[in-house]
Formats: sequence, C-alpha cells, structure tokens
Amino acid sequence: MKHLSSYFTFATAIALLFSFEPPSLDTPEKFIQCFYNYPNITNSNSNVLYTQTNSSYSSVLNVTIQNLRFLHISSKPQVIVTPVDVSHIQATIMCSQRHGLQIRIRSGGHDYEGLSYVAEVPFVIIDLINLREVTVDEENQTAWVQTGAQLGELYYRIYEKSKTLAFPAGVCYSVGTGGHISGGGYGFLMRKYGLAADNIVDAQIIDVNGNLLDRQAMGEDLFWAIRGGGGASFGVIVAWKIKLVPVPSTVTVFNVARTLEENATEIIQKWQVVASKLDERIYIRMDMEKVHSREYGKRTIQVNFVSMFLGGVEELVPLMQKSLPELGLDRKDCTETSWIGSAVFLNSPWFGSTSLEAPEVLLNRTQIYSGYFKAKSDYVRQPISIDGLRGLWRFLYDDEIEYGQLQFAPYGGRMYEISESELPFAHRSGYIFHIHYVTIWQTIGDEAAQRHVNWIRELYKYMEPYVPNSPRAAYVNYRDLDIGVNNNGYTSYDQASIWGLKYFGNNFRRLATVKTRVDPYNFFKNEQSIPTLLEEEI
Ligand SMILES: Cc1cc2nc3c(=O)[nH]c(=O)nc-3n(C[C@H](O)[C@H](O)[C@H](O)COP(=O)(O)OP(=O)(O)OC[C@H]3O[C@@H](n4cnc5c(N)ncnc54)[C@H](O)[C@@H]3O)c2cc1C
Ligand SMILES: *[C@@H]1O[C@H](CO)[C@@H](O)[C@H](O)[C@H]1NC(C)=O
Ligand SMILES: *[C@@H]1O[C@H](CO)[C@@H](O)[C@H](O)[C@H]1NC(C)=O
Ligand SMILES: *[C@@H]1O[C@H](CO)[C@@H](O)[C@H](O)[C@H]1NC(C)=O
Ligand SMILES: *[C@@H]1O[C@H](CO)[C@@H](O)[C@H](O)[C@H]1NC(C)=O
Ligand SMILES: *[C@@H]1O[C@H](CO)[C@@H](O)[C@H](O)[C@H]1NC(C)=O
Ligand SMILES: *[C@@H]1O[C@H](CO)[C@@H](O)[C@H](O)[C@H]1NC(C)=O
Repeated sequence: MKHLSSYFTFATAIALLFSFEPPSLDTPEKFIQCFYNYPNITNSNSNVLYTQTNSSYSSVLNVTIQNLRFLHISSKPQVIVTPVDVSHIQATIMCSQRHGLQIRIRSGGHDYEGLSYVAEVPFVIIDLINLREVTVDEENQTAWVQTGAQLGELYYRIYEKSKTLAFPAGVCYSVGTGGHISGGGYGFLMRKYGLAADNIVDAQIIDVNGNLLDRQAMGEDLFWAIRGGGGASFGVIVAWKIKLVPVPSTVTVFNVARTLEENATEIIQKWQVVASKLDERIYIRMDMEKVHSREYGKRTIQVNFVSMFLGGVEELVPLMQKSLPELGLDRKDCTETSWIGSAVFLNSPWFGSTSLEAPEVLLNRTQIYSGYFKAKSDYVRQPISIDGLRGLWRFLYDDEIEYGQLQFAPYGGRMYEISESELPFAHRSGYIFHIHYVTIWQTIGDEAAQRHVNWIRELYKYMEPYVPNSPRAAYVNYRDLDIGVNNNGYTSYDQASIWGLKYFGNNFRRLATVKTRVDPYNFFKNEQSIPTLLEEEI
C-alpha cells in the first residue's frame, strides 16, 4: 500500500505549496483566474485560452486531429491553451496541478492513439501551435526549433539558408517536431545519419515545477530520456537544438512499382537480404498494398519501391544493377533533384501531384486527413519466408477492409553504429528492417472501426513467428495501446513493463528512474507514460 500513502502525501504537498485548499475539481474559471494571476506572466493581454463556450473552441481543437477515430470522442478538454510565451506553459503546468486538472501536450497532433488531445479525466491541452519558430545557424550547422513547428517548416527553413544542409527526420510534412523527436524520428536519411533524436545537441524543457531548463540545467539523464523516451512523461519540451547534416546538392529519387506478376516476390526476397547492407547513402522503402491490375484483369499485390540516394543518377543506376538487379531500375525511373526536392517528392502522395518545383508546399498547414486509422509496428531480424509473405498477401486481399498497407523500412548504416543504450530508442543493430502496418477506413461508426481494428490485430498475431518475441519490439512513435496501458491511478513498474520493454528494451528501467527523479508524483501521465518507481524499487 506504499504507493497509496505516497499519493496522499503528494496531494498534501501540492496543496501546501500553493494555498491552503486541497486540490479539487474546479471549474475552468478557477484555472483561468490562476493562469492570469501567475507571477511573471507576460503577454497577459494576448488571448491564449479557449474554453468550451468559446465559438472557436471546436475548430482550435479539431485543427490538428490527425486520426478521425478521435474526432468524435466525448471527453474534451476544459480549456485549450495556445501559448505564445514560455510563461503561459509555466502557468498552465502550475495551475493545472492546483485545480486538479491533467494536461495533454500537443505539437503536430499525429499521435496514433490521440494521446495529445484525448483524456478520460478533466484536463487542459497545451497546444504548441503558436510556438513554431525555426532559427537556422548555417555557420555552425545547427538550428533551434520550437516544438510547435512541423517537419515541413523545419525542412523549408533549412532550405532557405542552405541547399546542402538537411535534417534526418520523418517524411510527412505535417508531423510535429515535439512528439516526433521525443519518440526517435526516422526517415530517408536514417541509414546515413540515424534518427532525429540522434542529432539533438540541446533542448529546452519546462518541468513539473515550472522551471525552464536547458541541457546543462536539466542534466544528462533527463536530456537522454527526452531523446526517444516518448513525449509527455517528463515535462513540456519547448525547443530542440538540432545538428544539421551535410547532403550533396544533387540527390536522386525514384518510386518504382512491381506487382506479383512482375516478380515482386523475388525482388522482396532479395531486398530483405541486401537493403540493410547497401551503401548507406541509399535508402529503399517497400510499400505494399492490394491493387486491381488492369493488365492482368485481377487483383494482385503491388510493391512500391520508394527511394532516395545521396548522389546522382550516374552513380545510382550501376549501384542498383549490382546490388538489386532484380528490380531492373532504369535511369528513366529516376529523378535528380535537391534534398528539399526529395522532401517534396516523398510527400507527393499527400499533395496529389508529383511536381518537384515548389518547396513552399511544405509550409502548407492544412492537416492531412487519412481518415480513420489503426497502425502497429514490428522489427525484423531474419528475412520473412515466401510462405510468410503469402500469408501477408492473404491479409491484404481481405475484402472486409477498405484499405491495408505494409511498409518495410530498411535498417543498417548509422543505425548499427549506435549502441542500444545510447538513447532510450533501443532498436539498433541486428534488425534488418522495420514494419509499419496500417489500415485506413472512411466508413463512420463502431462496426467499421471494430472490423478494421480486428483485422490488424489478427495480422499482428499472424506475424508473431516472424519477429523476435522476447520482447517483441515496437516503435513508440507508432503508438499502439493494444500492447498495454497504464491504470488511471497508480501503475507499477512491472505492469508498465508489458508495453515499456517493447518500446524501449533495457532502457525502460532507466527511463523510470529519470521519471521518478524529475516528476516523482507522476503529474505528467497518460495511458503510456513512463511510470515512477516505488522507494523499494529504486
Ligand atoms: C501521416 C503520418 C506520417 C508519419 N510519418 C512518420 C515518419 O516518417 N517517421 C517517423 O518516425 N514517424 C512518423 N509518424 C509518426 C510520428 O512520428 C508520431 O506520431 C509523432 O509522435 C507525432 O508527433 P506530433 O508532435 O505530430 O504528435 P502529437 O500528437 O502532438 O504528440 C505525440 C506525443 O508526444 C507528446 N508531445 C508532443 N509535443 C510535445 C512536447 N513539446 N513536449 C512533450 N511532449 C510532447 C504528446 O503529448 C503525445 O504523447 C507519422 C505519423 C503520421 C500520422
Ligand atoms: C519571476 O521573475 C523573477 C525575476 O525575474 C524571478 O526571480 C522569479 O523566480 C520569477 N518567478 C516565477 C514564479 O517564475
Ligand atoms: C475565444 O478565445 C479567444 C482566445 O482566448 C479570444 O481571442 C476570443 O475573443 C474568444 N471568443 C469569444 C467569442 O469569446
Ligand atoms: C469538430 O469536430 C466535431 C466532431 O466531428 C464536429 O462536431 C465539429 O463541428 C467540428 N468543429 C469544427 C469547427 O469543424
Ligand atoms: C557560431 O558559434 C559560435 C560559438 O558558439 C558563436 O560565437 C557564433 O556567433 C555562431 N555563429 C552564428 C552565425 O550564430
Ligand atoms: C521476371 O523474371 C524473369 C526471370 O528472371 C524475367 O525474364 C522477366 O523479365 C521478369 N519480369 C519483369 C517484369 O521484370
Ligand atoms: C494545402 O494542402 C491542401 C490539402 O492537400 C490543399 O487543398 C491546399 O490547396 C493546399 N494549400 C496551399 C496554399 O498550397
């Protein structure tokens, strides 16, 4: 019962700290009053609070909800705070504790399970949408990025200063840097430069006491934890200082499709062996889905080989001919462009065009709506057999679902040089690729949702023999509440380990130790936040 008594101590401590009232569920008005009375609040006349009665509340709430599954949810925040200043975040953290509210922190709103804007308890959202400054220092090859900035904005601001500097992070331009970098963050530069989190040199975080801390002030343990340990467990990250990486002025991209009739299986078999061993400047992702082939008059599986090469086509084509001749890559399949052009190319499915001309599209703030979706992840050590692949095709052929896709993302290169404990992100050497499974549907209602969720759960079960299982690895940025959740109240370390070891392997323990030190009473919590340790567990 130790944990219960420590909870009561916590409540008392907070009450004494602020006033002589115990924390209780107050009306939003009390929170708002507290907010404006917070010492040192700056820009106090700027309008940053949205309550449920405000006519803009619902559009502010909806604007970055990426997964429609969580648009209709009934538990909505009491208040949405859109800080334009650090003091607004400090006031929100302190006043939420005082008035018995939890907080959810939202950057790009892409959390697969909606954890940045949904909660089953009375809560406030800190929405970082207005804190999106990107300051590029091309001389020192670094940049400060506020966490409300999206990846597309970051890439564009780098491009404005230099055509030969880049940052190794995710593909989709609307992903937020706040959540993405907190969970690792990978993309087409991963084999050359590792994860986004591998390229962070400093950060600013506001802790549970409202203190704004940089790397030096937070200490190396906390600085370690926030680079891959998942957002929202340790505090509100305000900005990252990132290390920019050099890229050649010409890069080459291609997106080549092959169906089963066009030897896709044979190419996949070879890809599984070579993709992680290729020259680290080349990254080839395989996207697989069911299509109706007009040529063959039937359904089939199509694989898209989506690729970027840090160099010109003259070098790429012979390299491919040598390592993956089965693909039959031709130079007319390839496009030479700049690194920013490659970012536009890789986003083109969302823009519905393949124009490479206008990097400004990366500044588009319109949310990409992919409909309702559910996704999962796996990490693979051994090539999947042909029989194994056939079973996957059976899932993709299932007419009960509206859309299903598998993405195989290659490993190797820089990822193998970084040790498992360097950062909380533990999935490094030994893996040959990473799988992203997703199903997307447009039909409203519980029946459709259940059908699609069941499908992906079955698929996940089917894959069990093909992936390591002790533990089965998962990617925290592809958040999946099926693998385990915390209780609403206290969650033991052992209980949280069920999901924690999948995301973080042996780093989970250290994450819990850091959490216990920086947020001992577990204010920053959600369904999959890092748990605190009991005294006897430390
Ligand atoms: C269309 C799409 C494409 C994607 N592509 C890629 C990809 O190419 N590579 C890849 O690695 N991942 C990819 N992802 C996954 C993505 O990296 C994660 O969903 C990521 O967590 C999203 O970050 P966000 O800020 O947009 O999300 P949010 O929903 O805002 O946040 C995600 C989590 O981080 C917390 N958080 C957010 N901001 C902060 C902050 N400032 N301080 C503390 N905690 C914070 C939130 O509370 C939440 O728990 C993609 C996702 C989608 C939907
Ligand atoms: C307010 O500002 C003063 C002077 O900058 C500082 O000493 C004090 O700690 C601040 N208080 C809070 C609660 O931030
Ligand atoms: C809604 O809240 C915003 C932000 O605080 C404020 O600017 C606006 O005036 C409010 N609108 C109404 C109708 O209260
Ligand atoms: C936000 O989404 C909800 C749920 O679908 C909807 O009822 C509401 O009208 C939306 N608000 C706006 C402004 O789009
Ligand atoms: C680069 O870093 C040095 C040393 O920290 C600093 O003095 C200089 O101002 C920086 N350059 C720019 C353009 O900020
Ligand atoms: C498939 O492979 C066979 C034998 O290797 C080859 O002859 C044929 O051209 C290939 N088909 C395509 C579409 O590449
Ligand atoms: C932004 O993207 C949306 C959705 O793809 C599109 O409808 C809109 O025209 C784009 N806006 C600009 C300014 O490019």
